[in-house]
Amino acid sequence: MPTQAQAAAPAALVKYPSNRLGNVSDLKPDAAFDVAYPDQDAPGVLLKLGKRVEGGVGPDGDIVGFAALCPHKGFYMNYRPEDRTLNCPGHFSRFDCEKGGQQVWGHATQNLPQYALRVDEKGDIYAEGVDELLYGRLSNTL
Ligand code: FES
Repeated sequence: MPTQAQAAAPAALVKYPSNRLGNVSDLKPDAAFDVAYPDQDAPGVLLKLGKRVEGGVGPDGDIVGFAALCPHKGFYMNYRPEDRTLNCPGHFSRFDCEKGGQQVWGHATQNLPQYALRVDEKGDIYAEGVDELLYGRLSNTL
């Protein structure tokens, strides 16, 4: 039986140091919780989607995390709870948070980097890697 972290690990995962991003109790359903990972120059969000999803962790398998800068030109994106997407105000790319950050419309040429998350016995949420290139980086290295 795989652990939650193993089950959540995307195929092309790039590992970063494990950073605590918050606690399960910090999250409200369908509201973005602001974080940064793997460093302060890389804003992101944690989301509690209310249903088990790809890459989801926690008691309900519904907690996911994504980079919040659009992979196209780096605009900061907004979460839209109505359809659980992250939306870019720059040129309107959209990414499906229930489908691993899959791009559903727009100019970006890659899906949204999703965090590999782990939840410990205290409910603390750790990120341990990402599955796509972060905006503005030439490679996924620190
Ligand atoms: S910066 Fe997001 S679509 Fe261009």
